[in-house]
Order: sequence, then structure tokens, then C-alpha cells
Amino acid sequence: MTTIDNGTQEAAGKVPPRYACGETFVPKSRYIDPEFLKLELDRLFTQVWQPACREEEIPEPGNYYEYTIGRQSIMVVRQKDASIKAFYNACTHRGMKVVRGTGCAADGELRCEFHGWRYAFDGRSSFVPSRDEFLNRPREQWSLRPVAVGTWGGWVFVSMAEDPPDLLDWLDPLPTALAPFRLQDMRFRWRKRTFLPANYKTVIDAFIEGYHTPGTHPQTLRATQGPRPSTEPAPPQEFVYAPYTPTIPYRNHSRFIYTARPDSGDKDSARKEQAARPEVFANSMQYNYLEVRSLATERDYRVAQQLATMEPSDVPPFVLYHQMCEELALAEGVDFPKMTMEQYFAGNGDWHVFPTLVILVEKSCILGYRMLPDAEDPNQCVFEMFSLEHFAPGEVPETSWLEFERWQDHDGWGELPTQDLRNIGAIHAGMHSKGFDGLWLNTAQEMSIRNEHAIADRFIFGVDDRADDGAVGA
Ligand code: FES
Ligand SMILES: [Fe+2]
Repeated sequence: MTTIDNGTQEAAGKVPPRYACGETFVPKSRYIDPEFLKLELDRLFTQVWQPACREEEIPEPGNYYEYTIGRQSIMVVRQKDASIKAFYNACTHRGMKVVRGTGCAADGELRCEFHGWRYAFDGRSSFVPSRDEFLNRPREQWSLRPVAVGTWGGWVFVSMAEDPPDLLDWLDPLPTALAPFRLQDMRFRWRKRTFLPANYKTVIDAFIEGYHTPGTHPQTLRATQGPRPSTEPAPPQEFVYAPYTPTIPYRNHSRFIYTARPDSGDKDSARKEQAARPEVFANSMQYNYLEVRSLATERDYRVAQQLATMEPSDVPPFVLYHQMCEELALAEGVDFPKMTMEQYFAGNGDWHVFPTLVILVEKSCILGYRMLPDAEDPNQCVFEMFSLEHFAPGEVPETSWLEFERWQDHDGWGELPTQDLRNIGAIHAGMHSKGFDGLWLNTAQEMSIRNEHAIADRFIFGVDDRADDGAVGA
């Protein structure tokens, strides 16, 4: 038996009815109950690997990054030998945070500002004023307490678990599928942070399915109109141009891809016909650069402008585009990732790197999001959005996190992300309605959302409802 914090006894291995999902239903309590947030913070976030920062954020020995998840603060520190260690960010004297934010430790040591205790970068206690006045303290309790750390794709991952699984096993199948893209060699083009009035999962869910595309982003159905099409709501008949974006649930993560319906027949023909025209495909790529500010780089944009002037040929426009982007990038000194179209399609798309990271992967760049829960309030979260890119040597721009108290305080999100951001507050507010019980999900294009709850149930309630068949909805 496990005691849940409201004092009720819950049978281990069983999800309490108020939090139990159906095959395609998720109760809203998982998004709005403070108690559920507490369960997530206590049982999920203390167990799973999660990205703390990018390696490029701590380039030099002594550089540190403070990662905050709920009430836990973890410091990630670059070592003298360039390796990385992580520690609970609590001085072993009286618990004060040793570092705050990001920075570089002066004098080759980390220093607590309260009584001046010092630690080497590897966490060992290096200076305690009046040390002989701490005679009772066992030797092994002086050092900073370590947290498991690992790297993949240029991210530094941390886990508070005592005995975490191998990081690459946990991330499966991302390391294999994304190896050709060499995410670890990408660097920030830009990065922004704000705070949203919604549960962190409300925000994640808005970025891990493509079913909302025609409803929220109607301009993406209208590439025939040019690089900046109308954003008027789409009438029902226009939904034939909607992309088909099935979700693929994995053991620990999810993904959705853009593809054709298996039984499409004529249904996708309108869309396919358009995609065969170079200027229509090129318009979409130009739109990405202009109004998503990612998914296409400035270099890709120039390629798209050229592609828009070309006549249709036997080579599909997207194949031409990829060839031209690669040629131009190589010509301009970029160590562009080489891969077959098969490898591209195996990694391209939108990945939910459970629990906090979402990445949309292209060859030249990726668009990323990270959503972090608030420590107390299920109706608040941190939202980060960034673009990473393969740069030519010497061309990596200086960037830092641009932080906005409200997303409305910044007008540079781009048209498409702005449409998503405008939805968020209303989605979460609507969930509180007495007339709303929970989410009814699309069985083909929203199973990423169902999967995130199935993964969470393993950690929170010890329930593994996919033990037999591998994955929900697979
Ligand atoms: S709490 Fe850090 S030195 Fe006292
Ligand atoms: Fe969107």
C-alpha cells in the first residue's frame, strides 16, 4: 500500500479512479489538481532523466548551470578535464544554494555565500572555516551530494534516481534515429523563455500532435498563395489539405510524422498535387524561415527562393530542396550532416523527449521547446523555445536566454508560434470548466498525449499498462 498525500490509502499498482485514463480518455484532474502535480514532482521527476541544459551553456571548467525542477535545484558543473558533474545545489553545512543561475566559479572553487564554505568542481569540500569546530561530522558527509549526469545530442541530462537506467537506453530510439543529424554539433541560433498560465502538460500537448494544424495554423494549408498566406480560419472543405500526422508511441517517448494516410486513395490527392509543384513546396520552406524562425535556416531560405523559380520535373521538390540545401551549406563551410532520404525520414518529425523536451528535427536545424512545471501551481509553467543550427566554423552567434514575464511582452515569436501561444491560456482555462471532464483523443494523431500519461503512470503509480504489447496505440 502506498499513502497518497491526502491521507487515503491507494493499492500499489493501481491508478486511483480520479486519475485513471481510458484508452483514449485522460481526466482533467491530471492537469489541474495540485495533488497530482505533487505526485509528479515527488515520484516522476525524481526518477527520470531530464535535460538540464545544453553543453554549450557550460563551455569552460568552473562554468555552472542551475537547473530547477519543482523544489529541487541541481547544479551542473564543467570539470577541469572537460567532463561534467552534477550535484544537489545545497551547501552541506546549512543547505543554502551554492550557485544561482548560470555563471563561472571564481578562484577555481564553488563558494557558499553564507559562511564561506568552498567546494572543488568535483564536489569535494575544499575549505571550511574553523573546520576543527565540526568534529562530530562524519568525513563522507562534507562533499556536495552527486546527481547522475549524462550527455546526448548536446544536452546535459540529470537524474535524481539512485540507480538510473543507462541514459541511451532510456532515450531509445532517439540516439539511433537521430544519430545522422548530429544534434550534438548544433548550437543555439536563438533561445527564449517565458511563463505561461497553464499546466506544463497542457503546453507540451499543444506541441506533440499535428492534428491542430489546420485549425490553429490554417495558413500552412495555403502554400499556393505564396510564402505568407492568409490566416483566415479554414472552412470544412479546406481540411482536405490538412497534413496527416500519425503519432508513434515508444516505451519512454513519442513522435509524430507528416505522411500520407495509408488508406488515402483520393483523399490526399489534392495535397499531393500541390506538393509536386516546386514553388508551392518552396513557399512552405520560406514560411518556416519567415514565421517559425526555425525548421529552415537563412541559407535554406535562399535555396527555397531559388527552388520557387524552377519548373516541375521528375525529381520531387523536397528531394531537390534537400540536395540544394546540402550543396549550399557545404559550399559555405558547414559540416552538413550527410544522410540518405531514408535516414532523414527515420528521424525527421516532432519528438516528445519525455517528460519536458519537444524537438522538431531537420538536417540544418531543429526547433525545440521545454516545458517545466511550477513547484506549487498546476496552472503555471515555464516555457522555453529555441532553435539550434549547424553553423560554419566561426559563425556561431553569441546568444543568451531572452526572458519575458508574459509571452505577450515579446512580439518576435513569429506568426505560427504566436498562434500556439495565443491558444494556451484558453485551453487550460477551459479545462477548469464544470462542463468538461477530460481530453478525448484522436486515436491516430493524438496518441502521443495518451502515451505521456502511460509513461507517467509507471513512475507515479507503478502501473505498466503496456507491458504486454509494447506501447499504447502502437
Ligand atoms: S550554509 Fe553554506 S557555508 Fe553555511
Ligand atoms: Fe501549433
